[in-house]
Amino acid sequence: HQPGLIDPGGRRITYLRLSVTDRCDLRCTYCMAPHTRFVPRPEVLSLEEMARLAEAAALAGVRKIRLTGGEPLVRRGVMTLIEHLGALVADGRLDELTLTTNANHLPAHAAGLAANHIRRINLSLDSLDPGTYRALTRGGDLGRALAGLAAAERAGLAVRLNCVAGPWLDLSEATRLVRFAAARGHAVAFIETMPLGPQADAAPGPDLAPLAEHLKATFDLRPTPADNPAAGPARWLVGPGGTPRVGLIVPSGPDFCAACNRLRLTATGRLHPCLGHPASHDLKPLVRAGADLATLARALAEAVRAKPAHHLMDSRPPDHQMNHTGG
Ligand code: GTP
Ligand code: 5AD
Ligand code: SF4
Repeated sequence: HQPGLIDPGGRRITYLRLSVTDRCDLRCTYCMAPHTRFVPRPEVLSLEEMARLAEAAALAGVRKIRLTGGEPLVRRGVMTLIEHLGALVADGRLDELTLTTNANHLPAHAAGLAANHIRRINLSLDSLDPGTYRALTRGGDLGRALAGLAAAERAGLAVRLNCVAGPWLDLSEATRLVRFAAARGHAVAFIETMPLGPQADAAPGPDLAPLAEHLKATFDLRPTPADNPAAGPARWLVGPGGTPRVGLIVPSGPDFCAACNRLRLTATGRLHPCLGHPASHDLKPLVRAGADLATLARALAEAVRAKPAHHLMDSRPPDHQMNHTGG
């Protein structure tokens, strides 16, 4: 009998976000400082250590794993990890394996993802204007990201676009992103800029409430009941006939944390029970000492007992970096 992971507030924790590297080939202004130093290699868990922690998480009650970064697809050998985790989906130990990516490496990897039980991915695409995209990613090429998107579509992956609401996001850019996503059959999520780590001073973007009202009116969007129990704190709006599908991730909003179902593990083995709270547990010593799966699963359960009821982003934003916690 598997009791699963229940936190002190009664929330069922079924979702692990696993950051496979803090590195990325872009430097988005909302995520990284311009001259971010990356973690020294020896501190980063091996792919085998990550796979063991993922297996322990599944044993403890996690049903969904999302690979994040940095950019997960820049980690050398990441496909061997994806094969390993895909096998956990195949044998029923996980319901879902997915990833969040900047799309740059999808032309090389999309088919491999689809072949290893990944059905849908989240893809960062914050602007459809090449100049804005280049500026906000500090050098990224919109054409390359769009080629990655096309590769995901060819591989049959379902895609959700992620748009962080930075200063560049106005009503016309948001409307364009919704039209673009809907025309290709994709959902799109707008994400409030979160003040974390060295990016705590990053220029905040527009308030999402009036933007959502505008999109509702323009596309005749209606709120949807959480159709998917794994949806977590995001709220979804849909148009007539099910399209467009527009998500809103607004941590400053009321009740945001009530539906939280997740844990985050950094590439160095630090478990963060909440993105917007300084609490963390270092699992690296345990995994490096060769602890068995049951011991690792117990350590995860202990971390869940320390999961905060709510983030502190509005009062005391934690100083960990987005490229470490994986967003
Ligand atoms: P699903 O797995 O489909 O629920 O997607 P997701 O929104 O959890 O994943 P994604 O990696 O696309 O996350 C996009 C961004 O949304 C994250 O990087 C965070 O900035 C924000 N976000 C998602 N979930 C949470 C959460 O539980 N708390 C906070 N504060 N932010 C979140
Ligand atoms: N605020 C909000 N979202 C962020 N992300 C990264 N940094 C931030 C931030 N400061 C999110 C982006 C990206 C995901 C991996 O992390 O949505 O798609
Ligand atoms: Fe969960 Fe923390 Fe995000 Fe709230 S801020 S939804 S508790 S991770």
